[in-house]
Amino acid sequence: MQIIIHESPEKLAQSAAQWVQALLIKKTKPVLGLATGSTPIKLYKVLVEKHQRGELSFADVKTFNLDEYFDIDAKNPQSYRSFMKQHLFDHVDINPSNTFLPTCKKGQDPREQGLAYEKEIKEAGGIDLQILGIGGNGHIGFNEPSSSLRSRTRIKTLTQQTLKDNSRLFTPGEYQPTLAMTMGIATILDAKYVMLMATGKQKATAVKQMITGGVSANCPASVLQMHENAVIFLDKEAASELDDHEYYEWANEQNNKLNESLGFFHNF
Ligand code: PGA
Repeated sequence: MQIIIHESPEKLAQSAAQWVQALLIKKTKPVLGLATGSTPIKLYKVLVEKHQRGELSFADVKTFNLDEYFDIDAKNPQSYRSFMKQHLFDHVDINPSNTFLPTCKKGQDPREQGLAYEKEIKEAGGIDLQILGIGGNGHIGFNEPSSSLRSRTRIKTLTQQTLKDNSRLFTPGEYQPTLAMTMGIATILDAKYVMLMATGKQKATAVKQMITGGVSANCPASVLQMHENAVIFLDKEAASELDDHEYYEWANEQNNKLNESLGFFHNF
């Protein structure tokens, strides 16, 4: 795991955008895994700005989102497709038919829908870079604590904590879905690179557990310890419960020097 601690969420977003940019420039048919939630909004803003300045094109990009609410209309403003349109898709040159989310409507079989999503990812050549946030309970995607570490795209029941954390996004009395389709943990582990972003004090305990706790279904993000190319972007607050702060910062300085002299920093 590479742990990069940034001064602020804004600096973190700039740095994360460089990774996405490197992928889009290096690969002819890049496949990007996307996340929703408050954390990646700043990253998407930077990507849109880069696109508007002519520095970045999404014309040949395929995207796969981590999750989507069960039985939600794509046009519903609470759907994750609406979120992606609002924050990224509508502002860049991506072909909407190249954007995928794991959907399942009432009457459809979630198992079949999950298998179909896995197949689509495979047929696209696999995910090159998966963007992730982390829940206060350590979830990645909607893989809540107790999720199988070998899980694949499937339907999940959200925990009370996740429902409470996300209730800020719903108006009082508005229906809040309790079920979602989500990539599995094995699906996420298959991505060539994973980039997890966490900001704010409310993530500090989950971040500590992810990095320094044992690998456990109790903190699904801890499975990233087993990923070959996992980079964790933190702001100071999210990193505040880590003991080895100084080591991570120093290791990054050394890494940057090495990368400069060797001429690479990721090998998409
Ligand atoms: P947040 O959610 O970015 O809104 O904090 C992250 C997550 O639940 O994965």
